[in-house]
Amino acid sequence: MPTALTRAISPLLGECELTHLQRSVIDIKKAQNQQKEYENALENMGYTIRRVPDIPHLPDGVFVEDAAVVFPEIGIITRPGAKSRRPETESVAAVLSEYRDLKTITAPGTLDGGDVLTLGKQVFVGISERTNTKAIQQFVDFLKPYGYSVTGIPVTKCLHLKTAIAVIDNDLLLINPEWIDESLFPGYRCEYVSESEPYGANVIRKDNWALCPKAFTNTAEWLQKQGYDVIALDQSELAKAEAGLTCCSILVDD
Ligand code: GLY
Repeated sequence: MPTALTRAISPLLGECELTHLQRSVIDIKKAQNQQKEYENALENMGYTIRRVPDIPHLPDGVFVEDAAVVFPEIGIITRPGAKSRRPETESVAAVLSEYRDLKTITAPGTLDGGDVLTLGKQVFVGISERTNTKAIQQFVDFLKPYGYSVTGIPVTKCLHLKTAIAVIDNDLLLINPEWIDESLFPGYRCEYVSESEPYGANVIRKDNWALCPKAFTNTAEWLQKQGYDVIALDQSELAKAEAGLTCCSILVDD
């Protein structure tokens, strides 16, 4: 059974790390309701939800995606780029070790899971404020035995690589071309997000389902036209914490 690991929202979410956004007040109750809807949507998509242990003292703990990257063969525990986020990984590792053998990124490497996009045996890793080339080299070493190639991609205009790109189908990507250089993905068809929805590329697609923030109506319409069953979710509060849909879960497929 595919499992989605999630974590309860910290009451301190309003004190989260911010890089490209101005701080604004987050309604914690509303954020919790939005997270529940997100978990319900993942259940609709066939995932069993498993919450990793609460860490209420860590504002960004809900963004579990950054703490680990899961492949069919292994899991890689990260060393997040923001110092405040490094204590988030231990509790994720404890749970993920039940599903995969684990490797761990070590200093001086830093890497956020949001910077990792996997396309079959090709892994693209954002070189960003959070992720450095030392960690990418460790990724290469961890994944080489399993036949993966790893390519670093510069990311400067948004937080993470996956803020600006999503895999929609085997050869089809949804991308913000202002933030990511599409020429780095030769052989793939690239659909651009609409200019009014720069954050629209952070969607989750699995089987016939596509999960999309409610605010991005053009993106939702395009996904519908591609034939997907779109679940549009209100993500207003988590978006204020500079987070997208993918940030809030680690998807562990069978
Ligand atoms: N607030 C999400 C992050 O900066 O990691």
